[in-house]
Amino acid sequence: MLNKNAAKKIISAFLSLMTIAVMTAGCQKSNEEQNNEELLIGFSQIGSESAWRIGNTKDIEEQAQNYGVDLMLENANQKQENQIAAIRRFIAYKVDVIAFSPIVEDGWDNVLTEAKDAGIPVILVDRDISTDKEDLTTCLIGADFYKEGVMAGEYLIRKADALGLDHVNIVEITGTENSTPMRQRQAGFADAIANDDRMTILESIDGDFLTSRGAECMRYLLETYGDDIDVVYSHNDEMTLGALPEIEKAGFAPGKDIIIISIDGGQEAIDVLKEGKINCVVECTPKLGKELMETAIKLKAGEQVDPLIHPIEQVFSDEMNPEDIAPRGY
Ligand code: AHR
Repeated sequence: MLNKNAAKKIISAFLSLMTIAVMTAGCQKSNEEQNNEELLIGFSQIGSESAWRIGNTKDIEEQAQNYGVDLMLENANQKQENQIAAIRRFIAYKVDVIAFSPIVEDGWDNVLTEAKDAGIPVILVDRDISTDKEDLTTCLIGADFYKEGVMAGEYLIRKADALGLDHVNIVEITGTENSTPMRQRQAGFADAIANDDRMTILESIDGDFLTSRGAECMRYLLETYGDDIDVVYSHNDEMTLGALPEIEKAGFAPGKDIIIISIDGGQEAIDVLKEGKINCVVECTPKLGKELMETAIKLKAGEQVDPLIHPIEQVFSDEMNPEDIAPRGY
């Protein structure tokens, strides 16, 4: 039998051990958080041209918080020179990782060479660059835009079959000239319809991913081609949403008289798809923040990263029950 004092000592020793264990666990957790907090990412966003872009910025901010990563975020207001200046500030600030969504593909060699010379790894988010130089960037986290164009073209072939069309006149409203989504969505779509003799692209016109430009382009296309237009293929939801009222003003019913194909899948476009005024929306997800944080953490730890990370994307269309589409969250 233990006397009262011995029992007290044992209980007190046990409690002390428990306290130490709990404190150690606490320290380990805060060390992990601290590790990520010590990671500083400088991120240059293109601008706020679309619901997609605003959703992308929000997702990156939220995921930085989730992962305990410090984020210096700069909005370039659609100007490449602002992005270049932001990257130079990130270099001067000695951030751990630079990430950016290049508005266009060309013109990055000098500033990225400066980042490389400073030993700061660079992650491309959403869009790619075009360069002859090696090792300016570590990886690209973004959609497979070529596949999106292919999925849009394949939908159109199925739709033309279903309607029994023997000729299909298409107008294309493209995204920002010389940007990756513009180039690849155009190429993927063109390749997908290339062997179908029914398809003719009447004109491709630059809508710069903007609602106002989508409306302007559509007015011009309606004035030029009138009721010859069977299909509008638009490279993003904003331009599509700008084009639709113009089609209605000209006396046509979008989704019925003219087949409407869009890309992105923001909630507003999905709601219009449910109304029957858009026939197909190819998804492009803005949710790239998680992959960005995980990749930056690996780079800081000196680990290898995948050179190319594409999210999985789908097609929303009048071939499915649109009520089955879950809320998009942006
Ligand atoms: O780079 C992705 C594209 O940019 C989205 O499709 C568009 O909406 C955005 O502005």
